Amino acid sequence: MSNWEELEARCMDCTACRLCEKRHNVVFGVGKKDARVMFIGEGPGEQEDLQGEPFVGRAGQLLDKLLYAIDLDRHKNVYIANIVKCRPPMNRDPQEDEQESCIGYLREQTRLIRPRIIVTLGRIAGMKLIKPDLRITREHGSVIERKGITMIPMFHPAALLRNPANMEGAFRDFLILREKINEICPEVYGN
Ligand code: URA
Ligand code: SF4
Repeated sequence: MSNWEELEARCMDCTACRLCEKRHNVVFGVGKKDARVMFIGEGPGEQEDLQGEPFVGRAGQLLDKLLYAIDLDRHKNVYIANIVKCRPPMNRDPQEDEQESCIGYLREQTRLIRPRIIVTLGRIAGMKLIKPDLRITREHGSVIERKGITMIPMFHPAALLRNPANMEGAFRDFLILREKINEICPEVYGN
């Protein structure tokens, strides 16, 4: 248990898994520490590792557009983080032991932020946080209640760039998210 500053300082110095070896920056997260809505990706890519902020590369630009479409903004009303805080080399999937080493930071972030809604982006985050057998193509946009938190698995924006055919489905998921925000935490929109 720790407060935000202690947690962030501990994470910034972390050497608990092999991903510390090649990183340039630890990518802790970005956004409001009292956000009602959290977005969780899988791990930093090249740009994120260089800049120390999640989702700042091409996939991140798409995420920002999707957020903007439903009046969300990384600096105003959400918090964005990843399952692992250091970049996996060559953008490979973070391995199970790396995820296990790192997940404690995300759990503490979630405990301190106390979001009402968590959106997982992509297969890795959805499998880790929602269920190990999540099928993202079939289950994206579904709404799962877990310990008072509403969880919604969505496509990863990088997957949307690779396969734009899923863009329409992704957009529908964001409309579902907007409805859920209006229902559960309308204060996000100032209501
Ligand atoms: N992909 C992710 O999963 N997270 C990032 O921060 C960037 C790309
Ligand atoms: Fe520590 Fe997480 Fe980075 Fe591994 S990925 S070194 S557990 S902060």
